Amino acid sequence: MSALAVSVVPGAGEGGARVRLERFAARHDLPVADRLDAVPATRFALALDHGRAALHAPREWPDLGGDPLVIDFAADRRFARPPTRRDALARATGWKAGLRPMVIDLTAGLGRDAWALASGGCRVVAVERHPVVHLLLADALARAAAIPALAEIAGRIRLLHGDVRTGALDAEPAPDHGSVWYLDPMFPERRKSALVKKPMRVFHHLVGRDPDAAELFAWARRQPGARWVVKRPPDASPLDAIVPDVEYRSGRLRFDVYLPVRP
Ligand SMILES: C[S@@+](CC[C@H](N)C(=O)[O-])C[C@H]1O[C@@H](n2cnc3c(N)ncnc32)[C@H](O)[C@@H]1O
Repeated sequence: MSALAVSVVPGAGEGGARVRLERFAARHDLPVADRLDAVPATRFALALDHGRAALHAPREWPDLGGDPLVIDFAADRRFARPPTRRDALARATGWKAGLRPMVIDLTAGLGRDAWALASGGCRVVAVERHPVVHLLLADALARAAAIPALAEIAGRIRLLHGDVRTGALDAEPAPDHGSVWYLDPMFPERRKSALVKKPMRVFHHLVGRDPDAAELFAWARRQPGARWVVKRPPDASPLDAIVPDVEYRSGRLRFDVYLPVRP
């Protein structure tokens, strides 16, 4: 039996999302149910929601709410406008007039940063190790690729499953001195959980924390690149207490930027 406490409710009918759910259940040896209310109350459920893969919290955790977690680049108003060169994300990743870097997003998560970077013109290799998060993002990208207005942006994102340190990038073109390495590790959930939207609480409960973020950063720093960017909450200490060369702030975010070490 898989270690994932997830049941799958692929539903009936046609559609890429349903096929993705069925394959996911088979690959991870997960129990399949024919209805959401048939899933044991202790388990997460992956089900279809309007043709989209959606993650439901275990029913025994009612404070996580009834809103499932779905990634939808077409419906999410945050993505209606691409970032400009003045935005903190663009400045942190080093956009120049007519030039967009290749970004390797080592912690793809829900793909919001990858999408923002790609909608501004960057090519993004996005790496996600959690199988359920990877499935939700793969489903969202496949749906976006089928929408003419979004297909070009989706086509700039290459999503990989795994961890770079165990070979997720091995079949890809080698990163070079122009690559930008991007990390946004999980941060402890804010205590005032009313401030965190319910689907995001589901995400936090599923993924937990990233206690190995410093090791991932140290690994990335040994690779060739133009800069390394770490996203942090504004009042957090820098990752592994390593002071950045530059920082950019925007609302509730801070981007710590590290430049190549000169010999
Ligand atoms: C805070 S979320 C990233 C959110 C993302 N930046 C976004 O815009 O949606 C962190 C994600 O990184 C993933 N992650 C953490 N360490 C990783 C690693 N070493 N390799 C691949 N994924 C990792 C976690 O599973 C989690 O989904």
